[in-house]
Amino acid sequence: MSVGPQELLRLVICGSVDDGKSTLLGRLLDDAGLLHQEERQRLAAHGGTLGEPHYAGVVDGLLAERAQAITIDVAYRSMELAGRRYRVADAPGHEQYTHNMITAATRADAALILCDVTRGLTAQTRRHLALLAVLGVHHVGLLVNKMDLVDYAAEAFESVAASFADNARRLGLAQAQSLPVSALCGDNLLHRGHRLGWFDGPSVYDYLATLPPRQERGGALRLPVQWVYRLQDGRRALGGRVSGAVLTPGQAVRVFPGNTEARVARLLAPEADLPEALPGSSVLLTLDQPVDTSRGSVLADIEHPPTVTDQFQATVIWLSRQPLYAGRRYTLKLGTTRVGASVTDIRHRLDPDDLSALAARELGRHEFGVCNLALDRPVPLDAFTDSRETGTFILIDPFDHDTVAAGMVRHALRRATNLHSQPGEVDRAARAAMKGQQPFVLWFTGLSGAGKSTVANLVEQCLHGLGKHTFLLDGDNLRQGLNRDLGFTPGDRVENIRRAAEVARLMTEAGVIVLTAFISPYRAEREMARALFSDQAFLEVFVDAPLSVVEARDPKGLYARARQGALMNFTGIDAPYERPEHPDIQLDTTLLTAPAAAEAVLAALHRRKLI
Ligand code: ADX
Repeated sequence: MSVGPQELLRLVICGSVDDGKSTLLGRLLDDAGLLHQEERQRLAAHGGTLGEPHYAGVVDGLLAERAQAITIDVAYRSMELAGRRYRVADAPGHEQYTHNMITAATRADAALILCDVTRGLTAQTRRHLALLAVLGVHHVGLLVNKMDLVDYAAEAFESVAASFADNARRLGLAQAQSLPVSALCGDNLLHRGHRLGWFDGPSVYDYLATLPPRQERGGALRLPVQWVYRLQDGRRALGGRVSGAVLTPGQAVRVFPGNTEARVARLLAPEADLPEALPGSSVLLTLDQPVDTSRGSVLADIEHPPTVTDQFQATVIWLSRQPLYAGRRYTLKLGTTRVGASVTDIRHRLDPDDLSALAARELGRHEFGVCNLALDRPVPLDAFTDSRETGTFILIDPFDHDTVAAGMVRHALRRATNLHSQPGEVDRAARAAMKGQQPFVLWFTGLSGAGKSTVANLVEQCLHGLGKHTFLLDGDNLRQGLNRDLGFTPGDRVENIRRAAEVARLMTEAGVIVLTAFISPYRAEREMARALFSDQAFLEVFVDAPLSVVEARDPKGLYARARQGALMNFTGIDAPYERPEHPDIQLDTTLLTAPAAAEAVLAALHRRKLI
């Protein structure tokens, strides 16, 4: 008999082996008749007991082996209890697995959190609870485990339950409940049992049976296109996973980002075409007319289309050890779309105790915040409350490909739809032609005192002498005007460089050759600047000098002050400088005089036929 999607409950179980999670999972699976003969034998081989360390190890292994994992560490098991199907995601409890817990919880209808009655609510339990609140999982059951260790004392349970209730109330989790259990001895799993006779709530199974599947508002069809295949007859077939509503042949859909209307022609399958595709299933389909599609396109309900935008507000869970600074560039992955993105503004941080707003200029690891994001191009998306598939995203570091954040779309920013690029009649080429030159940027980077401004000045004089129209943007100068509001915290430096790069871009649009002299200590921002220009039009010039040398020069006396502790966040002393890995031009100023360094830059410009 096939089971409809409405009868499936997606459950996430949070907690660690120490809390007894593996024992509980093993028990649940065993009671549901899901442990195979061979698995039982392997359990027996491990001492024949359900003693936690053995059992835990074995079950974890089993889960991993047969996991249909979305990400590597989330193991899913299906089980059926009392006629209802459950899909259980086992989210590892350790801090470094937060990402997996998020992956599991964004799709969950309800959560079970395990805690150890002898340890009470730990920081980790509170963190899990806050995450569930942020992710909108409102049905949360706290299994207060190891009641056998406290002789099934009601007071021990009640004190943990009381602090849980208080914590949940502050987080706005109205549907939270605590249940005393002993996973090891089987108390209150299937039946309450006499040792917990004083408890007047449900057993774990009874509790699970009361949980309603999460209703996604609207339930509008979304099909993010994962693959575009070319069929033998030359037509295109689109592959992807259906969500939100049933998809049938003949159904009219809108295809985004182009917003083109089409009908589903066929739902292809190896034997015969499918009569329908249920939410959660993957399909291959054809449309009744050729529509421009690629990976990242979205097929959507005609009446309830997604928003196509390049700016939106989101709740962000920061995962990287390096804090989030507004302005830094990442790759955003939403559904099947990948697009360059940056956080333009951290609106506020969310207090993990009650989700109230706190002022913040950066987000640290595992902190939550509300942020505005800007994308390189408009993409179709939904509010998180409307669609998990097209309303959640992750941010990826473009350098090491680490996932640095998970996010939930709150809403599109209206200003995005009201802004249009103004195409001018007089364009960049026309302006450059009138000046008889090719605009480009020489981006000087290096420690304070390395000689950036000195060399840039000499290069500018030479270019000027050659009749070129130039402009030198210097950190010290810009910081007295446009960037007067910025200091030297990491966040401020990121913004300093973002503005400088944007100004440089405007100037090259105007046909001007731009030289910049900023420490620009972070690789990420130098790459961000580079990305604003074509390959030929941006040259990174590394003015290289060891700290010992610049400190000895100390032209402004700043290193001495920094050493005395009178100046904080000083690059090279107590703030980092990330050396360029592949600069276009490298100048060793311990070997070259300033005029020789300027000569080297001009020679490089000649070689590249830029002058
Ligand atoms: S950047 O790091 O944001 O690129 P920028 O080049 O604009 O810095 O400014 C650096 C100049 O500011 C230095 O040459 C120095 O004169 C001055 N300065 C003042 N405080 C600091 C500091 N804490 N770190 C580095 N430079 C500082």
